[in-house]
Amino acid sequence: MAKLTYYGHATWGVETKGTAILIDPFFTGNPLTSVTPADVRADFIILTHAHGDHYGDTVAIARRSGATVISNYEIVNYCQKQGVTNGHPLHIGGGYMFPFGRVKLTIAHHGSSFPDGTYGGSPAGVVLEVEGKRLYDAGDTALFSDMSLIGQAGLDVALLPIGDNFTMGPEDAAAAAKLLRARTVIPQHYNTWPVITQDPEAFKRRVEEATESKVVVLKPGGTHTA
Ligand code: NI
Ligand code: MN
Repeated sequence: MAKLTYYGHATWGVETKGTAILIDPFFTGNPLTSVTPADVRADFIILTHAHGDHYGDTVAIARRSGATVISNYEIVNYCQKQGVTNGHPLHIGGGYMFPFGRVKLTIAHHGSSFPDGTYGGSPAGVVLEVEGKRLYDAGDTALFSDMSLIGQAGLDVALLPIGDNFTMGPEDAAAAAKLLRARTVIPQHYNTWPVITQDPEAFKRRVEEATESKVVVLKPGGTHTA
């Protein structure tokens, strides 16, 4: 069973059969976690886009651990220039079967520049297939109707931003949940800073009234087994 750990904001750990995967490893400066980049294990790091609150500690963790960075071509190339040895570039719509499972990049409507202003390619969502489970991390995005295509093959878990301001707010994220029809929805990208303050329990009620999805609200450090 794949175990998801939420580190707050949009930072996730996925453990599957002894392989440790980090998604958007933002630890330094993340007010929701006291975990540091030195504390975490990583064999692979998946990045949805280059913004600082997602790219985060990628280089420090990958240089220490030798983890392979999986992201779009521009991001992998940038990380390799920062001294990351192992990278696997994908691009939107493309997937690849890694030793732990399949990773596919999907569209996201957002931006993707690095903190220093370097172009970070197109932002992405991620579909991760591990141990027969399909997880979708929407990344940072607006609502878009093609989410129904992403949901078509069946999703066990959908990680959806609800913070508003930079991404979908709760209303659009609830509409996204309707299109995705995932078994479980977990909200992310909220309550990190005052500007993205949201009530995840209100989101849970809203989605569970309108869809058959179950909403799991995780506190930072909380886990969910898919
Ligand atoms: Ni962003
Ligand atoms: Mn963000």
